[in-house]
Amino acid sequence: MENIAVVLDQYRSITNTSNRTNTLSRPRKRNRADLLRDLGLYDPLQTFGNFELVAGAGDTYQAIRNIADGGTEATMFLCYGGTGSGKTHLLKAVALRLYGRGIFVRYLTWAMVINTLKNGLNDGAIPPYRDILRNYCYARALLIDDVGMGSTGTAFEYLQLEEIIDVRYSRRLLTLMATNKHLDELPDRVVSRLRDPDVSIVVLNSAKDYRIRQGNEN
Ligand SMILES: Nc1ncnc2c1ncn2[C@@H]1O[C@H](COP(=O)(O)OP(=O)(O)OP(=O)(O)O)[C@@H](O)[C@H]1O
Ligand SMILES: [Mg+2]
Repeated sequence: MENIAVVLDQYRSITNTSNRTNTLSRPRKRNRADLLRDLGLYDPLQTFGNFELVAGAGDTYQAIRNIADGGTEATMFLCYGGTGSGKTHLLKAVALRLYGRGIFVRYLTWAMVINTLKNGLNDGAIPPYRDILRNYCYARALLIDDVGMGSTGTAFEYLQLEEIIDVRYSRRLLTLMATNKHLDELPDRVVSRLRDPDVSIVVLNSAKDYRIRQGNEN
């Protein structure tokens, strides 16, 4: 089973080349707790290794696994589906796997993104709103779970999403998202970009709620 020690070893083997003599340029070795915190993850880890290939989740698993392993040119990914179908599990698994390949992406929820942006609007906020938005727009990789959820769904919030997706789409920046919403509930300009088959992969995770699987109904 995949675990964090394996991921760390993979990462070190990518970054610690034998001809690198300048210790200042070496990445800081992070302990497990620091690494998980930085990635927005916590125990028990949700990995590809402990994801059961239940009915309805196969397409999502294959698509995101492909992205995690660098097996596709597509740079945008959206998984939509019902409660407990494994969307968050797979997003967290991909964050871990990408880290193993030297690509840092923190697990974020849409509510976190919106709160951070709103805080940036306060007088004297550091960093200010513009810098925060720019960071979401231009980060090498961005992962946002529960898009459109946990927020009030105001025009302001959807405008942020449109701007982030527009920039990231045109620059072909790696963007991974999941939502409980159906596509027609998301802004048209976002859906249009997600519908571009050269750039985006959109998959429905139709698995049943794993939390209340057989034997765990009460
Ligand atoms: N196929 C699976 N194999 C193993 N564990 C799974 C699977 N699907 C879901 N789980 C587990 O079930 C729980 C719920 O899954 P998860 O949080 O990924 O659902 P979700 O689709 O994000 O739901 P929500 O819409 O409520 O956020 C988690 O503990 C997750 O690890
Ligand atoms: Mg979830």
